[in-house]
Amino acid sequence: MSVSVSPTTATARLLPGKPVAEKILTEVAEQVAALRAAGVTPALATVLVGDDDASAGYIRIKQRQAAELGFASPHVHLPASASQQDLHRVLADFNADAGVHGVLVQHPIPGHLDYDRALDVLDPDKDVDGMHPVNMGRLALGLPGPLPCTPAGIEALLAYHGVPVSGREVVILGRGATLGRPLAMLLAQKRPTANAAVTVVHTGVADWPRYTRRAEILVAAAGVPGIVRPEHVRPGAVVVGGGVRYEGRRLLPDVDESCAEVAGAITPRVGGVGPTTVAMLFRNAVRAAQRAVGQG
Ligand SMILES: NC(=O)c1ccc[n+]([C@@H]2O[C@H](COP(=O)([O-])OP(=O)(O)OC[C@H]3O[C@@H](n4cnc5c(N)ncnc54)[C@H](OP(=O)(O)O)[C@@H]3O)[C@@H](O)[C@H]2O)c1
Repeated sequence: MSVSVSPTTATARLLPGKPVAEKILTEVAEQVAALRAAGVTPALATVLVGDDDASAGYIRIKQRQAAELGFASPHVHLPASASQQDLHRVLADFNADAGVHGVLVQHPIPGHLDYDRALDVLDPDKDVDGMHPVNMGRLALGLPGPLPCTPAGIEALLAYHGVPVSGREVVILGRGATLGRPLAMLLAQKRPTANAAVTVVHTGVADWPRYTRRAEILVAAAGVPGIVRPEHVRPGAVVVGGGVRYEGRRLLPDVDESCAEVAGAITPRVGGVGPTTVAMLFRNAVRAAQRAVGQG
């Protein structure tokens, strides 16, 4: 199965994330089972600070999924009044616990706490989000380590749907630390599913549509609802919608729906990049356990 860039006026082929996530999670479940058979129970710890309903819901979903995959998932819930030191103590305890292989701090945390400072305290090898500065450094250097989940999910999504990336022109709208910047590093790496000519545009590039219009693969990573419109898309291009903004529970994507009339292939409004991001979290967790027991 392969997707090529060709002019089209028909509605674009959809690139859903769910089957990609299912494939990754099936592999994760097999790896967890192998570890358990060898006497190791992979453990993904979760930390929730405060009483935000949405965050509590996300943690519950991840814990349920962790249990289904065979992970142990110790959980700490700190009150909204917790101090930075309280959070650091929890992370230090998980760092010191050889039975815990990965740690997830649910984001966002209450405003008086500094997420980046907390992340610095976490053992980089237990950082399942792949966002620790050491892991960003490993990514920049092409060294093994946990990969940032959303960029890794996008690479997997393109590979699964047979979208050739190697040698092609990828333009990323946005240079944020979660998505645009690490994705640029990832897709420029020398690997068959990457190896692309990558350009990153942002608010400093006023004429960014000049770049996006020539992209064979366009990734929206701005977090500005509807910023990518059909006139920004090369006919037949592959469009990946990574950027989203939430208004309450309403999801507002960067990519305007009408781009499907110009693109050759496009991620769906819902169920595109999101499921692959979550799958990568568990992939990072099982790999952390494999590394800890000398299998990685
Ligand atoms: N789908 C998922 O699972 C998932 C997971 C994680 C993140 N996300 C989404 O990914 C998006 C990016 O997150 P992030 O943390 O990497 O980025 P971020 O820190 O929010 O930065 C956004 C980037 O977009 C650029 N930008 C914003 N408005 C622009 C405009 N009008 N014209 C040109 N460029 C513009 C900014 O340019 P400057 O640098 O010049 O300010 C910046 O580089 C967010 O919407 C986030 O919600 C999605």
